[in-house]
Amino acid sequence: MADTRRPAAAGISFDGVSMSYAGVRAFEPVTLDVKAGSFVSIVGTSGCGKTTLLRIAAGLIRPTEGSVDLSGARSGMCFQDPRLLPWRNAMDNVTLPLELAGVSADECQDRGIEILRMVGMGDAWNRMPAQLSGGMRMRVGLARALVERPPALLLDEPCSALDEITRETINELLADLWKELGMTVVLVTHSLAEAVYLGRQVVVMTGRPGRVVSVHGIHLPNRQPEVRTTVEFAQALQSIYHDMTLPRPPGGIAPSSLEKHAGSER
Ligand SMILES: Nc1ncnc2c1ncn2[C@@H]1O[C@H](COP(=O)(O)OP(=O)(O)O)[C@@H](O)[C@H]1O
Ligand SMILES: [Mg+2]
Repeated sequence: MADTRRPAAAGISFDGVSMSYAGVRAFEPVTLDVKAGSFVSIVGTSGCGKTTLLRIAAGLIRPTEGSVDLSGARSGMCFQDPRLLPWRNAMDNVTLPLELAGVSADECQDRGIEILRMVGMGDAWNRMPAQLSGGMRMRVGLARALVERPPALLLDEPCSALDEITRETINELLADLWKELGMTVVLVTHSLAEAVYLGRQVVVMTGRPGRVVSVHGIHLPNRQPEVRTTVEFAQALQSIYHDMTLPRPPGGIAPSSLEKHAGSER
């Protein structure tokens, strides 16, 4: 039987989370609630701590201060480079997490083909990674991250190595997967347009040391590609850009920029 389970999405709570390397804080303590089933984008200058924050959320590293609660659930992850195993075809890359969990070969195949179809790779299941374009490799990476139907998906700049058109098609895919599977998504991206188009909330971080300066609720008339030309879209971009380029306040966070509003429409 193919796996059509849709597990409850998991919220992610960061409570005073910070990370120090060799005694130097990489970013100020972050307290942030990502609601179950929401799509949250994180933007920020290079080095402000986005990747570290995601790795802490995934349980890959322990914070030196604070804690993260993912309601006991495991998340799926996908990075800029999906790091497929070159000697395994698309299907065998996708089913690897299931194999490691002891799932039978038949069930691996059923669940593998189901998620490969969902990412538009149903016809290319037997291609090797070297035979796939960058966009196709990302589709396979997403399928692998989602094959166990995690309640949360953590994405670290998944589109930054892709050309503009491919990036847009992957953006549409991410929007469709989120609607269809219902998991919580946290997307780290360099692209403010991508953050606004996909995120229902955008968290803005700045450096150095990194800190969260604001959280913007994103309310757009619709989520079709053309919405990128609307006034609402431009205004959201502008207000995020403004916060990213704020001069550092001497004593801490600019109060007017915190927690603008929180939207949760899907
Ligand atoms: N393993 C590490 N050892 C030492 N410093 C690190 C390590 N990983 C990240 N850092 C430092 O922590 C800060 C945040 O890094 P990172 O989370 O990669 O930021 P971002 O993803 O926003 O670019 C940077 O100053 C970086 O140099
Ligand atoms: Mg990073």
